[in-house]
Amino acid sequence: MKNIIVTGGAGFIGSNFVHYVVNNHPEVHVTVLDKLTYAGNKANLAGLPADRVELVVGDIADAKIVDELVAKADAVVHYAAESHNDNSLKDPYPFVETNLIGTYTLIEACRKYDVRFHHVSTDEVYGDLPLRKDLPGHGDGPGEKFTDKTPYNPSSPYSSTKAGSDLLVKAWVRSFGLRATISNCSNNYGPYQHIEKFIPRQITNILSGIRPKLYGDGKNVRDWIHTNDHSSAVWTILTKGEIGETYLIGADGEQDNITVLELILELMGQPKDAYDHVKDRPGHDLRYAIDSTKLREELGWKPQFTNFRDGLAATIQWYTDNREWWEAEKQAVEQKYAKNGQ
Ligand code: NAD
Ligand code: DAU
Repeated sequence: MKNIIVTGGAGFIGSNFVHYVVNNHPEVHVTVLDKLTYAGNKANLAGLPADRVELVVGDIADAKIVDELVAKADAVVHYAAESHNDNSLKDPYPFVETNLIGTYTLIEACRKYDVRFHHVSTDEVYGDLPLRKDLPGHGDGPGEKFTDKTPYNPSSPYSSTKAGSDLLVKAWVRSFGLRATISNCSNNYGPYQHIEKFIPRQITNILSGIRPKLYGDGKNVRDWIHTNDHSSAVWTILTKGEIGETYLIGADGEQDNITVLELILELMGQPKDAYDHVKDRPGHDLRYAIDSTKLREELGWKPQFTNFRDGLAATIQWYTDNREWWEAEKQAVEQKYAKNGQ
């Protein structure tokens, strides 16, 4: 696998994957195909060697550009998406266009040129789970987790378009022999994450003198994984995964939002209660949790960055050291949330 296309490689997780490939696989050349929406940023690829990484600015739903690039590639790793639930509740159309039509355009080109395709998806396609009774003050649920056998049950326009894109890929494998794999990963954190998302929003709020904002009662649980572990998992699946299979990626990182926020406040030297409760997200999924046994046992993958406190401290340091990366956008992001009571 010498020439790979990484769609969405100027976004949060895609750019971390490009850094991972450059640092770990010197034989591979990466072509990033990215539209540079509000979430894409050339700066995420700054400093990478020009002979190893090329950025092509374009839309994955543009069949002409996609055809030209895919014709020369050995594999496509597909990260590009509209990725934020809150945005999808305000204006779903870009989600339909990019996540569905964009994915369709890519798999048609991969079918034409018989190019290996890896589809990066989310645990949100499975809907949500009850809270676990073994977490104090939580719920009555037995603590079950998502597996690749869990039925699809997405809640938001974002997650339903991701679910639809997964189903397109599955159908192209079955009907046309597309050489594809799918991964569904839990919530990522780390450097280069857009400040609209929970963890960077709260860190940059504190750095800007704004009180952090917690949706609803803050008991919703997310299964956090460091983005570097997501990258190593995707590489493992791309190179060792069985065609047609779905692998769930997670690192046993369940935390409720209030606990995450209190840890951010503590690590940043703030009082534990220095935040505001704001309006909840409509249809807000309660709990996600991944069972990644299949990926660990069949492909031998293991996460490396499992100390959440250390990972969060390093992420806080990154946003502290890279103010120029986020500061210009901060006011507009907060104004948009404020209009929504969040
Ligand atoms: P992001 O919003 O940070 O980045 C998305 C990137 O895709 C941006 O660079 C953007 O410019 C690009 N893009 C958007 N529309 C495009 C189009 N039409 N053509 C070309 N490029 C386009 O997203 P992220 O959080 O890095 O997520 C990346 C992928 O991982 C998504 O597919 C998402 O569903 C999936 N995922 C995310 C998480 C998470 O916690 N963030 C977890 C599991 C899966
Ligand atoms: O599970 C994987 C998914 O994780 C990905 O598919 C999505 O692309 C990614 O955005 C993420 O979705 P979430 O909706 O879980 O992430 P978000 O960062 O928006 O919110 C995390 C939790 O924090 C969620 O329960 C909502 C809550 N929240 C969010 C924001 C922005 C707050 O309490 N306050 C906030 O200000």
